[in-house]
Amino acid sequence: MVALDQSKVVGYVLAKMADEDDPDPTPHGHITSLSVLRSHRKLGIATKLMQAAQKQMAQIYNACYVTLHVRKSNTAAYHLYSQTLGYTTKKLEKSYYADGEDAFEMLMLLREETAEERKANGGKGGVNLTTEKDDGDKKDDEKKNSNAKDNKDASKQQQQKQQQKKKKK
Ligand SMILES: CC(C)(COP(=O)(O)OP(=O)(O)OC[C@H]1O[C@@H](n2cnc3c(N)ncnc32)[C@H](O)[C@@H]1OP(=O)(O)O)[C@@H](O)C(=O)NCCC(=O)NCCS
Repeated sequence: MVALDQSKVVGYVLAKMADEDDPDPTPHGHITSLSVLRSHRKLGIATKLMQAAQKQMAQIYNACYVTLHVRKSNTAAYHLYSQTLGYTTKKLEKSYYADGEDAFEMLMLLREETAEERKANGGKGGVNLTTEKDDGDKKDDEKKNSNAKDNKDASKQQQQKQQQKKKKK
């Protein structure tokens, strides 16, 4: 999916659904890549692209949740996912990237898992919103997580935030 300014591509999001080899049989999506042209950042483009991708995964592919990885040092993207969109941090994956940097694995619930789905994945699917903590990173992670407790709360907060923004205008 791309964002256009006139006919120029200024941002894109690449999303995919998990295939049959995935250990969790519950339909779920993954955000593979997201980027916005430097000149067009902080205008809400990434937020819109992410929301549109999530909507399509839910409506077209019946996705139950969506996951992504983000570099530990990427504060802009982490803010977008955790604060703006309401993703929950699942765990820190050590040396996830080829250059050795750690990644946060994040998850956003799109709909409730059905009883059949829960049974099929033995209750161990990625839809479990509890976070796994590594002691060394607990403090840092907790700090970053402080406003992203639960996706349900987060979407509520997002709505309230948008209403406040409208009032300010
Ligand atoms: C991360 C990125 C996609 C954000 O795109 P964007 O279009 O500027 O994001 P938005 O305008 O939708 O902003 C969403 C939120 O993030 C915040 N944000 C954006 N850039 C930020 C920055 N550099 N520092 C802190 N917060 C930032 C915005 O203020 C906004 O917060 P709010 O909802 O609380 O007001 C963009 O910076 C980018 O392309 N970076 C390089 C590629 C990258 O890191 N991709 C993500 C890989 S996981």
